[in-house]
Amino acid sequence: MTFSWFFIMVFFLHFCFFFLVTQGRLNIHAEPNHLHIISRISFPPSPAPDEAAISPSYSAGPVHYTANFFNVRSFGAVGDGTRDDTQAFKMAWDTACEAEEPAVVLVPEGYSFMIQSTIFTGPCKSATTFQIDGTVMPPDGPKSWPKSYSKRQWLVFYRIDGMKMQGSGVIDGRGEKWWNLPCKPHKHGNNGTQNSGPCDSPAAIRFFLSSNLTVQGLIVKNSPQFHFRFDGCQNVHVESLTIKTPAYSPNTDGIHIENTNHVKIYNSLISNGDDCISIGAGSYNVDIRNITCGPSHGISIGSLGNHNSRACVSDITVSDSVIKTSNNGVRIKTWQGGSGAVSRVIFQNIQMDTVRNPIIVDQYYCLSKKCENQTSAVYVSNILYSNIKGTYDVRSAPVHFACSDSVPCTNLTLSHVELIPSKGKVVRDPVCWNAYGTMLTQIIPPVLCLLEGSPLTMRQSEVLC
Ligand SMILES: *[C@@H]1O[C@H](CO)[C@@H](O)[C@H](O)[C@H]1NC(C)=O
Ligand SMILES: *[C@@H]1O[C@H](CO)[C@@H](O)[C@H](O)[C@H]1NC(C)=O
Ligand SMILES: *[C@@H]1O[C@H](CO)[C@@H](O)[C@H](O)[C@H]1NC(C)=O
Ligand SMILES: *[C@@H]1O[C@H](CO)[C@@H](O)[C@H](O)[C@H]1NC(C)=O
Ligand SMILES: *[C@@H]1O[C@H](CO)[C@@H](O)[C@H](O)[C@H]1NC(C)=O
Repeated sequence: MTFSWFFIMVFFLHFCFFFLVTQGRLNIHAEPNHLHIISRISFPPSPAPDEAAISPSYSAGPVHYTANFFNVRSFGAVGDGTRDDTQAFKMAWDTACEAEEPAVVLVPEGYSFMIQSTIFTGPCKSATTFQIDGTVMPPDGPKSWPKSYSKRQWLVFYRIDGMKMQGSGVIDGRGEKWWNLPCKPHKHGNNGTQNSGPCDSPAAIRFFLSSNLTVQGLIVKNSPQFHFRFDGCQNVHVESLTIKTPAYSPNTDGIHIENTNHVKIYNSLISNGDDCISIGAGSYNVDIRNITCGPSHGISIGSLGNHNSRACVSDITVSDSVIKTSNNGVRIKTWQGGSGAVSRVIFQNIQMDTVRNPIIVDQYYCLSKKCENQTSAVYVSNILYSNIKGTYDVRSAPVHFACSDSVPCTNLTLSHVELIPSKGKVVRDPVCWNAYGTMLTQIIPPVLCLLEGSPLTMRQSEVLC
């Protein structure tokens, strides 16, 4: 065989291989415009297609074999932690989103992808999975954030029905430079003052007006602001997540939901600098189970009723969880002047470890300490605290029910609550103000300040939710 024949054979084999691979992927798509996108991306510059694009090597997660895989690297993402890979992610998403069968956007292990603030938009033709096995991160801090991009959000998933975000990878929000902005309470000793200056900081991952979402197994750390924000969503399942951010990071709520219903948050570890989970207005049917929080600010309903707004939150259950080294345990916080109601809330089987306010209702929530007293408030009722045990930090009373002057809390029920100091002397007097409720068992410490029965002034007609 002469040299030129050999060369031609090699070329031919190479071509066949390439053709089969491309063909295999193209068969999936029927529409011409998809053919165009894929063929444009699959051919040069690289002489051979990325192997991971054909046969993903990972085996984690219940990804079905029938799924189409769209590896961001085969769309041109570099993954060296420096190069801007936004366009490749967008193309991979758009292609997956247009696929007729369930599709997977694959972010492969062993690479670090730098992505600008991006909105991944649906609806998609079929269920879509974002499989993150590598690292994904934003530009490093406010100075590297393009001026024209929103500083309030980083990765946004918008109008999507049926999506999974999962994997063994890391989403690193690189928050440090945001936390150090002069407007933030300073991390080295918050003296209560806030300097002026731009303060917007991006939430790491926001799902907006979407439904049937699963987020599973990822590590999310160092978000500039909230780690997850679900806003206007339905049927959300968060499972086996790890959120890890320093206690000194301001405003870094772990999972925040608002106007969102049918939510399950299970089996996750959260340590951060603000609420571990926060539940905002318009949320109902939320089940939170087996969460370990701390250090954190605990699990909160609220804040609600800011700027005289109306807020309705109901049917919330928090159970089988641990809250440690936190300045709150289970909290309901509302501003004065709001309206609406928080009702049918169950906090049960919760272990507290060195928590400053293990059980707290605060209807005088105010950031500036200059809030005027007002006559309306969000009505808090039917709250059950059952089997809440452990230790508190004696700087505050372990049970604190500060209800509104004008709208008392009603039907607060305590059962099997046992809270003792982690060290130091017992705080004898729980705080109650305008709080109606009962103790079903002996409570430690006894909450003798609860008012019995129900207030005469309350009329059901006043409560509209
Ligand atoms: C409060 O902290 C800020 C930022 O650390 C600092 O600039 C300011 O001087 C401090 N104010 C007082 C009264 O200590
Ligand atoms: C979500 O999933 C449910 C069943 O799992 C399905 O009935 C529904 O159509 C899906 N989409 C929306 C928008 O709820
Ligand atoms: C609770 O969650 C942890 C992860 O945080 C997990 O390891 C453990 O198996 C879960 N427990 C149950 C009973 O599911
Ligand atoms: C608001 O009401 C509370 C409870 O009655 C009272 O302790 C507080 O002094 C009042 N604050 C103002 C600013 O009037
Ligand atoms: C009081 O709350 C409990 C649950 O915490 C509920 O079972 C009960 O029905 C409520 N009572 C009234 C009168 O609403």
